[in-house]
Amino acid sequence: HTYIIIMAGGVGTRFWPFSRSNYPKQFHDVLGTGRTLLQQTADRFDGICPPENIYIVTSSKYKEICQEQLPQLADDQVLCEPVARNTAPCIAYACYKIAQRDPEANIVVAPADHIILKEDAFRATIRTALATTEGNNVLVTLGIKPSRPDTGYGYIQYLTDAEGDVKKVKTFTEKPHLELARQFVESGEFVWNAGIFVWNVQAIKQAFTQFMPETAEIFAEGEPVYYTDEESAFINKAYSLCKSVSIDNGIMEKAGNVYVVLSEFGWSDLGTWKSLYEVSDKSDELNVIDGHILLYDTKNCIIKTPKDRLVVVNGLDGYIVAEYDNVLMICRKDEEQKVKEFVADAKERG
Ligand code: GDD
Ligand code: MG
Repeated sequence: HTYIIIMAGGVGTRFWPFSRSNYPKQFHDVLGTGRTLLQQTADRFDGICPPENIYIVTSSKYKEICQEQLPQLADDQVLCEPVARNTAPCIAYACYKIAQRDPEANIVVAPADHIILKEDAFRATIRTALATTEGNNVLVTLGIKPSRPDTGYGYIQYLTDAEGDVKKVKTFTEKPHLELARQFVESGEFVWNAGIFVWNVQAIKQAFTQFMPETAEIFAEGEPVYYTDEESAFINKAYSLCKSVSIDNGIMEKAGNVYVVLSEFGWSDLGTWKSLYEVSDKSDELNVIDGHILLYDTKNCIIKTPKDRLVVVNGLDGYIVAEYDNVLMICRKDEEQKVKEFVADAKERG
């Protein structure tokens, strides 16, 4: 009864120009391993469930890319959204559809754009989480020990009384401001939400009914049409009625039956260039290189350029040099938050 939902509808703008709205980061071989982030996400569940139990939820414009990258999936395992409405509708759609096929489904929801270095440890954690949710009305998330007051994550405070790695959640705060994030990290009582959720399908349906009743109603109405020719027309209408809400704000912050599995599997949300720099192997001069590159007197850089042309770099310290498609970006590594600005300006220029 184990199923996987892979969320692959994000646009990943902070990773520009590598991540573009027509080809976002989850579809790239970001680490240079020969497998894209989406493929690695699916590979990670080898041995956890058979391929026919894996569903991807993505924008209809990425459907072909998903099918190309994961040819083992049947057509109806790639669920297409007409518009992005954040993660709550994405999860509701997939869960209500799976419930129709298997009312006892036990589901792992995973983002398509994360890096996990220790796959065996990851699978062990997933098995622990699945054992916790099987037949129980609980919502489980995976928690990572925080290393900095990052404001891009959800923070989970847990009760310390239970033995073992599965802890009852006391509070869940999605993306706190910096001061609060600092307090959370200093207190030592918090972990980051890894954004990987585990629950049985009845538990999540109940949570939608309780905390997001409109969304629950919209997707419950689809029950007669899931797996039929009418599904896609129904979904187009359903999404036009959905509000844009994340699962974290819509459900996880509000529910009382949330548990966290304390985890350590070399996790990184590959949100930014800096996070890629941090997880990548570095040379003696602390450069991260991917491409056909000649370097002189250069350190602390991340350089990722197409392999079919030679790039020569001399005298750079602490820069991102990234080329993809028709864009070349050269930006100081410690000013990467400006990427959003660049994207907006570049759009204006066409
Ligand atoms: N199908 C679909 N549709 N997928 C989506 C959509 C959507 O509308 N919006 C986002 N996703 C996918 C993204 O591609 C990503 O894989 C995942 O859902 C999570 O969305 P993000 O937008 O990346 O969320 P976040 O990183 O800001 O925050 C979440 O993840 C953090 C850990 O990485 C939250 O769960 C945080 O609490 C958590 O700490
Ligand atoms: Mg993310």
